Amino acid sequence: MDLSAASHRIPLSDGNSIPIIGLGTYSEPKSTPKGACATSVKVAIDTGYRHIDGAYIYQNEHEVGEAIREKIAEGKVRREDIFYCGKLWATNHVPEMVRPTLERTLRVLQLDYVDLYIIEVPMAFKVECHPYFTQPKLLKFCQQHDIVIIAYSPLGTSRNPIWVNVSSPPLLKDALLNSLGKRYNKTAAQIVLRFNIQRGVVVIPKSFNLERIKENFQIFDFSLTEEEMKDIEALNKNVRFVPLLMWRDHPEYPFHDEY
Ligand code: A2P
Repeated sequence: MDLSAASHRIPLSDGNSIPIIGLGTYSEPKSTPKGACATSVKVAIDTGYRHIDGAYIYQNEHEVGEAIREKIAEGKVRREDIFYCGKLWATNHVPEMVRPTLERTLRVLQLDYVDLYIIEVPMAFKVECHPYFTQPKLLKFCQQHDIVIIAYSPLGTSRNPIWVNVSSPPLLKDALLNSLGKRYNKTAAQIVLRFNIQRGVVVIPKSFNLERIKENFQIFDFSLTEEEMKDIEALNKNVRFVPLLMWRDHPEYPFHDEY
């Protein structure tokens, strides 16, 4: 796979394609200043990101739309250059609500279409994925069936104690990832992201920090050797940072199954 900052779309089985790195935009609404999302999306587009991951439930989808529209108006990108993924929240799963909910997202974004619209939870093909949760069985299944995985929380999450298992070991402090970072003059975060894109997994790290948005995109100018990829795979601890335990009794709770 020949990935570069300027050209990093990977094919989907329906003939479409998806940029292998996207900007995640979930940020705790109460503590996030107004405008931080719009600024981050604009910086991301200027940096070269062409995939933005958002949702109405994040309460900042209007800022995402505003930023995308501004960059289109500036002539920086065309609408078709951008891949936007929106999400259907769990309260709106009944079939009659799907279309109006998507239409509400389009009104909020002030865009004519989204590129992907998925059910947020239970997730059908999106799972947490990073070196402590490498998902070998799921990845093999998806590769055999031409399904692309999008890894959320590819950096090991924000470790927000409200919904993250904070007793789990912090991924970015891992000794191997940091020593590989030193070898390539990269951060552990960049090694983690490179690991996933190099095996064909799309990553959507959230950052509203302008330096880290840029840092997370600097992953196309080096590659890990096969041995290093194997060493990182061996870090797998089956640690799920986002277990969503508050929903564990739900009949469709997705994480009782191995996949
Ligand atoms: P920030 O926005 O301050 O950069 P998620 O699991 O939703 O993708 O969240 C990723 C978390 O990791 C966010 O809290 C984000 O905070 C932080 N983050 C993003 N990029 C980096 C990086 N390169 N190094 C360290 N932390 C990062």
